[in-house]
Amino acid sequence: MKKIQIISLFPEMFEGVLHNSMMWKAQQEGAVSFEMINLRDFGLGPRKQVDDTPYGGGDGMLLKPEPLFAAIEKAKQNDPDAVVVLPTPRGKLWKQATAKHWSTLDTGLIFVCARYEGYDERITELIDEQVRVGDYVLTGGELPAMTIIDSVVRLLPNVLGGETSAEIESFADGQTLEYPQYTRPEEFQGKKVPDVLLSGHHGEIARWRADNSKIVED
Ligand code: ADE
Repeated sequence: MKKIQIISLFPEMFEGVLHNSMMWKAQQEGAVSFEMINLRDFGLGPRKQVDDTPYGGGDGMLLKPEPLFAAIEKAKQNDPDAVVVLPTPRGKLWKQATAKHWSTLDTGLIFVCARYEGYDERITELIDEQVRVGDYVLTGGELPAMTIIDSVVRLLPNVLGGETSAEIESFADGQTLEYPQYTRPEEFQGKKVPDVLLSGHHGEIARWRADNSKIVED
């Protein structure tokens, strides 16, 4: 069972994602377990302070090192060998090949979701992997963490229940992309399903699918 721990100031953001669809099924099947760690619980003083102004000036607040260190230490106590992941726009671009690799690792994962305008750089000594989900800036690490987690969990053994769809779909082998698909009705608003898909010719269908597995140009 893959153990995934998530450190966040906004654990409720994960509720919908973790309690529905594939992610919920994966937990029911024992393929994965999740533990939320609320960073606020490790805040300093009576007001549970987690952020402070940057040295050298500048806008915004940074996450302080002490609460983040304490939260990561707690997660490490639960799972000493876990890989610690920091979603950040400065990280390495997240790829399907990495999702596949991580889904085969025996170790658990700890996601550190940073918020506000950033974090004290000294926390990076506790981080094993810095990952970005695209070349744009989001408000925090929660949405990137959900994206990364979803892409890994669906590849865990038994999660897709004997289907081969995870194997054949977009990017799974680094180049094959998912082809267009159709279901009933045969004609919808004057638009027909391509004849070849109704033909029953497996060879021709495979060729059509290969010819139509293309990525939209950037
Ligand atoms: N945090 C903010 N933006 C991000 C991005 N694009 N990828 C990962 N983490 C982020």
